[in-house]
Amino acid sequence: MSFADLLSSDFWKSYTGEAAEWSVVRRGFESHRWDVIADSYQDFVRSTSYGETVKRVVSILQAKGVLGPDKTVLDVASGPGTFALLMAPMVSRVTCIDISPAMIKELEAELKKRRLTNVRSICQDWFTYESEEDFDLVFCGMSPILDDLRALDLMLKRSRRYLALLYWAGPYENDLFLRLYREATGEELRWFSANAVALFNYLYGLGYLPEISFFKQTWELELPIEEEVSYLLWCLSFYKEPSPLDAQIAHRLVQEKASEKGLIKDVTRTKLAFIFLDKKAD
Ligand SMILES: C[S@@+](CC[C@H](N)C(=O)[O-])C[C@H]1O[C@@H](n2cnc3c(N)ncnc32)[C@H](O)[C@@H]1O
Repeated sequence: MSFADLLSSDFWKSYTGEAAEWSVVRRGFESHRWDVIADSYQDFVRSTSYGETVKRVVSILQAKGVLGPDKTVLDVASGPGTFALLMAPMVSRVTCIDISPAMIKELEAELKKRRLTNVRSICQDWFTYESEEDFDLVFCGMSPILDDLRALDLMLKRSRRYLALLYWAGPYENDLFLRLYREATGEELRWFSANAVALFNYLYGLGYLPEISFFKQTWELELPIEEEVSYLLWCLSFYKEPSPLDAQIAHRLVQEKASEKGLIKDVTRTKLAFIFLDKKAD
């Protein structure tokens, strides 16, 4: 392999093509995994530094003139509208698509509550979405579909001008989860994601000049024992279906860390990258 290979989109497509077939990535495309966390997802966003990052990303887009009363947005894998709900008051129309019926239900409830009428929600798999409609901005935040560059090809097709992505730029470091993984599998966790580096290089290889910036994250949650156990087993379910023995291990690890009030401090450290592309930039 030569250095020139590293600069070609083909290299990144074939490199990530292997990762896209790993079961840990494919499991991320299954709607039922997201359905089970849909009702607590907005709480997670509000109570961790992820919520601050979401606001910063939207304000960066606003400062660049990407959001405005004449602009349309497609939010791919929108979840419960983490970004769409903030963007909607600034633009003409937002279309949200997500594979999880429960995430879309959360979004629709929030739209009603906020009386937002310019957001359309579609419950569908992005890989089979066939509309020919184009949007000024195509946005995708923190969805495992970004581990499969075919998803990015489809986003580029639907974007009239701008593409904005937020994705992992480093491993997910959570001591409790790493210990559970080690005890449940007998191995150390190998970080699976093709991550933002691959997204950036792929776009560069296609001839674009994207911008990239990084956000360090420390997500601190204080959860009751049962919620923490469910959360850890949910994380594990991307790697293997948790067995009754895995549940026992998770209980033991969580009990060891519980405060007198029965609460666990769950801390995750990671890095995210924001990638922004203006297809019409000189
Ligand atoms: C971590 S959440 C991100 C939600 C939101 N974009 C955010 O940043 O908070 C990942 C989302 O990707 C969605 N997803 C996974 N595979 C998908 C697919 N093939 N098509 C559409 N959505 C998908 C899930 O349902 C889930 O809502």
